[in-house]
Amino acid sequence: MDKILIFDTTLRDGEQVPGCKLNTEEKIELALQLEELGVDVIEAGFPISSPGDFSSVEKISKAITKATVCALSRAVQKDIETAAHALKYAKRPRIHTGIGTSDFHIKSKFNSTREEILKRAEQCVKWARNFTDDVEFYAEDAGRTDNEYLAKVIEAVIKVGATTVNIPDTTGYCLPHQYGEKIAYLKNNVSNIDKAVISCHCHNDLGLATANSISGAINGARQIECTINGLGERAGNTSLEEVVMIIKQHKALGFFTGIDATKLNPMSRLVSDTMRMPVQPNKAIVGSNAFSHSSGIHQDGFLKDTLTYEIISPEEVGADSSKIVLTARSGRSALAYRFQKLGYEFYRNDVDVLYERFLKIADHKKVVEDEDLCEIASSYQKAEGLMQKA
Ligand code: KIV
Ligand code: ZN
Repeated sequence: MDKILIFDTTLRDGEQVPGCKLNTEEKIELALQLEELGVDVIEAGFPISSPGDFSSVEKISKAITKATVCALSRAVQKDIETAAHALKYAKRPRIHTGIGTSDFHIKSKFNSTREEILKRAEQCVKWARNFTDDVEFYAEDAGRTDNEYLAKVIEAVIKVGATTVNIPDTTGYCLPHQYGEKIAYLKNNVSNIDKAVISCHCHNDLGLATANSISGAINGARQIECTINGLGERAGNTSLEEVVMIIKQHKALGFFTGIDATKLNPMSRLVSDTMRMPVQPNKAIVGSNAFSHSSGIHQDGFLKDTLTYEIISPEEVGADSSKIVLTARSGRSALAYRFQKLGYEFYRNDVDVLYERFLKIADHKKVVEDEDLCEIASSYQKAEGLMQKA
């Protein structure tokens, strides 16, 4: 089994989301919880961006004892020096530096040439290596970078000391097989690739970030950059909880992570509350509906054997127990189950009558609650002269 390193960028790429800005205390609290969760690398911020972010990276560096603490910089000497300065108390400091390598970036952003960008890429790694021997290079927009040129850049930065090479699909453009082929191309065409860890950093513009990251790992990447709840620029980044549970569910992939999955839901709630960013209800693993069953067919199967409709148990990911939600699409078995949970004992004939009454309410309400059920049940018991619930 190969370990996939989990690089969490909730505090950097995640925090770039409008409205998700955190103060230093909040960042430290989240960093400590991320360490407890078991992430290998915490990208704590972008120190040159503001005095507040510098201070957050510095304080996180002091507080974190096990994980690597990483700071972002552009391929600019001052950025790198500032990142190194902010990391000075880190037990395991990493400088993450890099530059755009796609022709879009080279021409439109830098008004430069491939040759010039290659030199700047080498230079930024050399600067960073003056401060730490843990240097990660990112080839921004690698997803849309010509593979031959990308391989040249990656070979050059490894030669001057990059120990991790990040291949971001910055715009979330790639299809999973294309992203996987890109990683395989680097594995096969960069002569010194065995001297560095390949990292996936995928954005979710087409909803493919998680699939692309897994495809990257299948093809040789051994680090995945991700965020809690998939937060990040625009449509977000690869979601940490999805990657971890895919690896856990599909043992045949031959991977494992150091993440304690039972902490995934508490961590998701903490990030959502602290960043004031709700999680979509149907979000995999951590959404409020991830373990809710509402249609009659599903409820009937689930009540007979949970495995019919759940591939993960909620306990495994620290979620509340599975829920049977009663709606107009629910069936008799779910209704009988809920009456039983509420302490009512009814025969099948009773449930048939009660089901008709339930449907009348359900057609008007989105979800039928316990109070509605108690009302139906006790008026039925009264009318039929049945024993009332105590
Ligand atoms: O998406 C991206 O390319 C990035 C880099 C700065 C790593 O976030
Ligand atoms: Zn990014």
